[in-house]
Amino acid sequence: MRMSSLLKLGRVVVHQYPGPTIGPENPMANELKKLTDGLYDMTKNQRFSLMPDDSSNVQQETDIQETSSDVEESLIIERTEERDNMVATLSGSISPEFTVLPIYGFGGIGKTTLAQLVFDDAQFAGYFKVWVYVSQNLVLNKIGNSIISQLSEESHVAERQMIHIKLRELLAGKKVLIVLDDVWEKNPDTLNSLMAMLRVGVDSMVTVIVTTRDEAVAREICHTVEPYELETLTDKICWKIIKQKTAFNDRVDKKRLKHIGREIATKCGGVALAAQSLGYTLKGKTPDEWESVRDHYIWNVSILEESSSRDHEVLASMLISYSHMPECLRSCFTYCAVFPKGHNIVKYDLIHQWIALGFTERSRIFDSMQLCEKYVVQLLGMSFLQYSKTPMSDRW
Ligand SMILES: Nc1ncnc2c1ncn2[C@@H]1O[C@H](COP(=O)(O)OP(=O)(O)O)[C@@H](O)[C@H]1O
Ligand SMILES: [Mg+2]
Repeated sequence: MRMSSLLKLGRVVVHQYPGPTIGPENPMANELKKLTDGLYDMTKNQRFSLMPDDSSNVQQETDIQETSSDVEESLIIERTEERDNMVATLSGSISPEFTVLPIYGFGGIGKTTLAQLVFDDAQFAGYFKVWVYVSQNLVLNKIGNSIISQLSEESHVAERQMIHIKLRELLAGKKVLIVLDDVWEKNPDTLNSLMAMLRVGVDSMVTVIVTTRDEAVAREICHTVEPYELETLTDKICWKIIKQKTAFNDRVDKKRLKHIGREIATKCGGVALAAQSLGYTLKGKTPDEWESVRDHYIWNVSILEESSSRDHEVLASMLISYSHMPECLRSCFTYCAVFPKGHNIVKYDLIHQWIALGFTERSRIFDSMQLCEKYVVQLLGMSFLQYSKTPMSDRW
């Protein structure tokens, strides 16, 4: 049985028979135990693929990777030059009434982060600001509605024509900065319609930043500024990220770790996400464990056919982080595969499901709830989950 189908069954059980009502005599308890044991076996043996399950037809809600404009700038290493270049380019636009600047580059390289830095830059202090996480499924009405709800009290406009009218009204005469984060849509007609929706006329100053992995999308979207290719980070910067995530400066064994850590940094392929995930994994680990991460066989295994070397490095680093997770955390993470791709996971619902399924370790210090809170923080730290701060009313 594939893991996802097993987990789906588990999920139904959880909803119908929440943990506390299951007694030893209850046949469902046995069933649940079997499912849980099965899950443990699988996480132990790692026999499954970690690809997201998109077999479900469940209506997509918010993507669990949904981004928002919030960024902890003190945690972002370098990229100030790129931010300043972008701000200068946008400020010097020859068509200030409507400026479109696409940023493209590998997944995990830091496009969203750069867009967040620009979003927060003092240059745009007097602007109305809108952040839309677009993702793989670009739906014009949803984007239109998201912009409308961020600029006004209006919550939902049903018809496309009304959306256009409302947007014209809201954008007219204003300075507005719009970030369209993570665009995958390739269809030129759709991309043209998207831009037409945002172009309102001469008395406005609408600046649009689009982030995408795909250079073809960056070029296809009707841009007014040459698309900006975000370069990979240097090994030195990846090492800085690892040092930050491992609280390296507080370690007494710095001398030994430095050499190993630098070698690990070179394996990140200049991708911030890989450095961040590995850094979190290495935190509090012994030098021997650092060495085992450095020498992990996954680095040399071809994981994806037809993938770029960067994809390989990101996936390899995520797999290594996964393999170093404590068993309970691994079970909790793999359980997240029950959610269909693009599903918005409510934290406390998830925690209750983890507890009901008995995924938490035993601890004399923490209760299950506290442990699960820790698991969530750990998964967020490793970028295995991303936390959305977008108001519920904006969720699709
Ligand atoms: N310069 C940086 N310093 C520290 N962390 C970074 C940096 N750039 C990106 N990150 C972190 O790496 C992860 C991936 O970055 P993100 O901007 O989401 O990449 P992308 O949008 O290109 O997929 C995020 O968790 C982000 O906080
Ligand atoms: Mg992104």
